[in-house]
Amino acid sequence: MNMQTKKIKIGNIQLNSNLMLAPMAGITDTVLRSMVRQMDKECLLVTEMLSSEALVNNPTAKILESTGFESPLAFQLSGHKPHLMAKAAKIIEDRADFIDVNMGCPVKKVVCGGDGSALMKTPQIAADIVKAIKDTINKPVTVKFRLGWTFDTKNFVEFGKLMEESGADAITIHARTRSQMYAGKADWAEISKLKQEVSIPIYANGDIVNIETAIECLNLSKADGLAIGRGALGNPYIFKQIEHYFETGEILPPQTLAEKIATLKSHLDWEISHRGEENGIKFFRKFYPYYIKGIRGGGAYRGKLVTEDSYQSILTLLDEIIENEQKILHIHSIN
Ligand SMILES: Cc1cc2nc3c(=O)[nH]c(=O)nc-3n(C[C@H](O)[C@H](O)[C@H](O)COP(=O)(O)O)c2cc1C
Repeated sequence: MNMQTKKIKIGNIQLNSNLMLAPMAGITDTVLRSMVRQMDKECLLVTEMLSSEALVNNPTAKILESTGFESPLAFQLSGHKPHLMAKAAKIIEDRADFIDVNMGCPVKKVVCGGDGSALMKTPQIAADIVKAIKDTINKPVTVKFRLGWTFDTKNFVEFGKLMEESGADAITIHARTRSQMYAGKADWAEISKLKQEVSIPIYANGDIVNIETAIECLNLSKADGLAIGRGALGNPYIFKQIEHYFETGEILPPQTLAEKIATLKSHLDWEISHRGEENGIKFFRKFYPYYIKGIRGGGAYRGKLVTEDSYQSILTLLDEIIENEQKILHIHSIN
């Protein structure tokens, strides 16, 4: 598969990239999406899942905010009531380039209400949701699902065909079943079975964390594009790296520690301006482990950073991390 020549078209929208930032609740807020957009101008961004019910009740919630320069941007909706999903889609239609429907979330409190991957057990409801949204708005509609509910009840091929018949314009498939949650390895080869059966674009998803896994996933899945979630945590640069490789065959050097810390700082600063200092600092705690993964003495710093409330003390710790690394590199160079 040559990502270089053939770019994905979703409905009537021609994209300039075959990569997607996969939706992640509590992670892919407007700040992280904008960080990715600064580093990669073209990849498709997706919001966190937005409950259709909550959105209809509160159409001005902060979670709906986006900056003007995130496009191409999909808003992801969760829910199981076709009329509410359509109503929610209508509310956000003007801000979205695409509406994505969550049919893959495995979390108990989501599936017990019939949302997320529970829709793979009720394919007719899933089909009705797609039809209802398509009938209500004028934007392409995409769907995201898994291989099935359990290993023995994998139905992604029939399910994907039904979504296409119902009007879906593209598919993202996380190559695990619901019962796997996030355990085991994503089975990329399975995706190729669906690829043979539908003509809408498919984004393969699950465990793509670098150029090697991107190549392997494309080869096995035969997918048109790649959706990257956890691989972007602490490394929003991954899209540019993969994109650049597929465009030129050249491997960009990884970010240095100083560059990573600079990225961390701007992510933190942006969260603070989005949420206020106290909430921004607390919200950001989940990201430190990813940004400082692999550094010497990382465990101790992680412990300090995730409990620190003072912005100034956080900056001092981050400077210390860089200074320590430079000292160690200096010792190595004179030995
Ligand atoms: C913290 C977290 C939150 C997630 N939230 C969503 C979500 O809101 N909607 C969705 O469709 N998938 C969600 N996912 C699933 C991811 O989009 C993706 O399918 C999964 O993580 C596998 O891809 P990856 O290995 O590239 O992370 C979430 C995953 C994580 C780790």
